[in-house]
Amino acid sequence: MELGRREFLAASIMTGAAAIASKPAFGSAGRGTMQGFAAAPIPELRVGFIGLGMRGPGAVHRISQLPGVRVTHLCDFYKDRAERQNSWLAKNKKPKAKVHYGEEGWKALCEADDVDLVYEATPWYMHTPVAVYAMQHGKHVAVEVPAALTLEECWQLVDVSEKTRKHCMMLENCCYGEVEMFALVLAREGAFGEIVHGEGAYIHDLRSLNYAEMKKGGYYNHWRLRHNKVHTGNPYPTHGLGPICQAMNVNRGDKMDYLVSVSSRQAGMSAYAKAKCAGTWKADMVPALGDMNTTVIRTALGRTIMIQHDVTSPRPYSRINLISGTKGILADYPFRVAFDVKGDGAHSWMADKDAVKLLKEKSHPLWKTAGEVAKRIGGHGGMDFLMDLRLCYCLQNGLPLDQDVYDAAAWSSLCDLTEKSARNRGATQDVPDFTRGGWKTAEPLGIVDVDLAKMGFNAGKTKKDDGQLNV
Ligand SMILES: NC(=O)c1ccc[n+]([C@@H]2O[C@H](COP(=O)([O-])OP(=O)(O)OC[C@H]3O[C@@H](n4cnc5c(N)ncnc54)[C@H](O)[C@@H]3O)[C@@H](O)[C@H]2O)c1
Repeated sequence: MELGRREFLAASIMTGAAAIASKPAFGSAGRGTMQGFAAAPIPELRVGFIGLGMRGPGAVHRISQLPGVRVTHLCDFYKDRAERQNSWLAKNKKPKAKVHYGEEGWKALCEADDVDLVYEATPWYMHTPVAVYAMQHGKHVAVEVPAALTLEECWQLVDVSEKTRKHCMMLENCCYGEVEMFALVLAREGAFGEIVHGEGAYIHDLRSLNYAEMKKGGYYNHWRLRHNKVHTGNPYPTHGLGPICQAMNVNRGDKMDYLVSVSSRQAGMSAYAKAKCAGTWKADMVPALGDMNTTVIRTALGRTIMIQHDVTSPRPYSRINLISGTKGILADYPFRVAFDVKGDGAHSWMADKDAVKLLKEKSHPLWKTAGEVAKRIGGHGGMDFLMDLRLCYCLQNGLPLDQDVYDAAAWSSLCDLTEKSARNRGATQDVPDFTRGGWKTAEPLGIVDVDLAKMGFNAGKTKKDDGQLNV
């Protein structure tokens, strides 16, 4: 089969200009770190959405329920997808937005005067180009995961964010999961002792979604399958990695130093395609992506992180979510904790009912404040709403965001680094220091919250996010 334009673009990203492993410290005019950066408050926040497929509409529904936040622009390749969200706004008594569509309609959205934040839920290959264009046109950006596909793109995001003084946050919603935020509370309290190891994953059987035609609920133009055809390593590393990095203070006291990555052979996708897509181009397509990719990262302070990716095996969903230290361990799927209370070991997990009780008692303040309404509105059990809530709250109140451009770059850099390592017998890859040394002095992420009363948020009036369910 001939390479499509998008497939060609995706392939050329990897083989084109050499990826940049390290960059000099700040120097050029107008530059400065974005660590701890806070923009001027934007009490009336105007948001433009790009990409309204499976993921985008839920975000429109969640964000438009926040006081002082208005959806002013909607964009998708397909006009009817953008118009459908405009009808939703009208039906829910919200002001109508301006609609953009077509291959480059997103540019007009980024250029518009009445947009403060561009919220992007497009195929991966568009993430960085759109985010960069938006920042260059004076907009803050929130971009879906992964924010970038190559080291070059990671550096581009960092450079442009620093130069334009615009936020670039990756929408790593799993950092707002109930268990992940509970783990952060325990980490900050020292319940794990010295944290020495973490494990995360994206184990999610996506075969039916990857191979489905768009009109039957699949991705736009099979963008994910086409990516998997030409790329291996771990193309989707951040759901498991992000929360562990926050607990370990990666980029804020520690940094990812180097990694090794190994992929299994590919078998599951081909077998599925032969069985389910006989007679189509999909049956003959041999993906480069190995079924299971395993990566081990070592940090500057000597911690290790194991990250896995498997979207082709018939396995129940898991992000693993394991944090382990000198005094205790938390693991998820299923949720478990164990602590070395007397200093002589922790040989069994805490009883389930006690673990759940602890989860409630030591629930993260954000979950205590807004967990109930987040569960009602929804979006992966509430974490999507909490992410959007914190993002808008910080922008409205002129606070630093929970995830900065360095997190976006460092976490996303695994896409490129794992592929390079996996294609070279697990050769060690250095993880660039996107903070240019700032990791040594940056403040760790605090235990953050929102003030719903100050926002004028009426939880009783909220509507369920009827977005899709895949994380
Ligand atoms: N964080 C999460 O839990 C989560 C969950 C699902 C998806 N995602 C991410 O969200 C993004 C979108 O995924 P999805 O499942 O919605 O895919 P999708 O294919 O359903 O949606 C992508 C949308 O982008 C549109 N699009 C394509 N080209 C465009 C262009 N030139 N201009 C404007 N719009 C264009 C398509 O028409 C489509 O509506 C991906 O990055 C994915 O990884 C994240």
